[in-house]
Order: sequence, then structure tokens, then C-alpha cells
Amino acid sequence: MTQTVRAAVFPVAGRGTRFLPATKASPKEMLPIVDKPLIQYAVEEAVSAGATKLVFVTGASKRAIEDHFDTDAELERALMQSGKDRLLESIRNIVPPGVSCVYIRQGEPLGLGHAVLCARPAVGDEPFFVHLADDLIAGQPGCLKQMADEFAGHGGSVIAVETVPREHTSSYGIVAVDESDRNRITQIVEKPAPEDAPSNSAVVGRYLLAPEIFGKLENTGRGAGGEIQLTDGIADMLDERAVYAYSFRGTRYDCGSKLGYLKATVAYGLEHDDAGAPFRTFLEETICE
Ligand code: G1P
Repeated sequence: MTQTVRAAVFPVAGRGTRFLPATKASPKEMLPIVDKPLIQYAVEEAVSAGATKLVFVTGASKRAIEDHFDTDAELERALMQSGKDRLLESIRNIVPPGVSCVYIRQGEPLGLGHAVLCARPAVGDEPFFVHLADDLIAGQPGCLKQMADEFAGHGGSVIAVETVPREHTSSYGIVAVDESDRNRITQIVEKPAPEDAPSNSAVVGRYLLAPEIFGKLENTGRGAGGEIQLTDGIADMLDERAVYAYSFRGTRYDCGSKLGYLKATVAYGLEHDDAGAPFRTFLEETICE
């Protein structure tokens, strides 16, 4: 029998230098796509996949994230008194009842693998999700739910992947798989040059990991970019524990890049309840000019 996945880890300690000056005093995970910050999309995806413990691994200038997921009684009262029911609804239960938030500080920015290791005391000895909020994935059901369903089928770790142009391999973890064994990963390399990449199947920011990863990360040295890489910890686990690559259904927007962020804003803007229709008219007029 496979276990339910209860904890979701959100590494949010990165500086977001690609979005300076917007991210000088505010975390990149608080950048909005239309009217919700990236980290809220992340939390909603994890909660709808069944997560009940949200573990944020934070760094400097991340207070806004804690405030965002906290109740703001004063704001709620003001919205209630002025009869702004829809707005009130939008800020209530951002974290649904029965779901708890844990904040762990990553003392030093030593890399994604180190950030995940920092979450160990909150996760314990159970499988858990890792969600990178930069990678916004529009999909129904959400990508983590798809992965939880996949996990329920075999109980191995699951990593979401997508095919990328070969010239982009140096921006991603890249996997090689055994197609005859449900796409079990045989090799995983962090940010290889195109000529060294074992394929063009790239890891996107969604992982469902067995707790054994923590023991591996404890012994993972610095890798690509001088950082402790989650990819390297996973590579150490491959011989002992099955890790599967999962091609998710949906569209990924790389909101860590300006172009990806703009694409997400347009795609989500077009779907927005109030702004969608006039936004479409505006775009059509602007593009046809
Ligand atoms: C991280 C991971 C990388 C993965 C990527 C997905 O890299 O280290 O393996 O492919 O996220 O977005 P980063 O984008 O933080 O450099």
C-alpha cells in the first residue's frame, strides 16, 4: 500500500535577481499573475493534491510570504463593513481549514538540495512534494495531483519532466529513462551542456520524493554552480530507490524568466473572470494595429 503525501515543501529562499528591482524588497514568489501571487498558485496546487502541511523554506526578505498566508483580521473587518464580499472571500481561507504552515529559515543560500534538507524536521519520515513556484503549471488536475495519482500506482518517487530544445539543457536537470520500465530514471544530471546531456527531457519544478532523499542530501557535496543540488541527491538515490519521470498534462510557464512571466500573465489574464474578455479585445486591437 502506498502512503498519502501530506507535506509539501516550497523552497522560497532565492533572491530573484532576474526580476530586480521588483524583487529588491519583495520576494519573487509574491510576484502576481493577474491578481494572485505565484506562491498562492503553488499552495493551491499542493492543497488540491492532498497536502495538509505546507513547509516554506525561507531566506532574507520573505516576511511578505508569512503575512500573505496569515489571517488579516483588520482587513477582513474593513471589507466586511464596506460590503465587499467577493474581495473578502478572496482573502479568507487562502490556507483552508485543516492545513498548517511551517516556516523554516535556510541560514545560508547553499542551493536547492540544501533548502530541501532544511525541511527535514517538518517533513519527517514520509514521502513529500517539492514545488518550485517559479514553474507555474496550468493543468487540470494540477501537476502535483497527477503525480500523486502516479505515485499511488507504484510507490516510487516521481519527478515531472518536459521535453526542451537541446540548446536549453544547461538550464535544467536532465534525465535519461528506461522506457520499458515505466520511464524509470537511469541517470539525472544538473544543467549539462547540450553535448553532454543524456537526453532533452528536463526536470520541471515538481517532485514527489521518498524520505530517503534526506540521507542522500546530507552527504551531497557542492555541484553545478557551487551549490548543493537536489539533482545530485536524487542521482545518489537511483540505485536503491525507483524514481520515475512523469510527463505531466498541462502547460508550464517559466516565471523565473521575464518572457515566461509575461506569457503566463497573458494566458491567465485571458482566462480571468472579470478582466478576460476586455483584455482579449485590447490584445486583438493592439496586435492588429
Ligand atoms: C532547478 C533545478 C533544476 C530544474 C529546475 C526546474 O534549477 O536545480 O534541476 O530543472 O529547477 O525549474 P533552477 O531553475 O533553480 O536553477
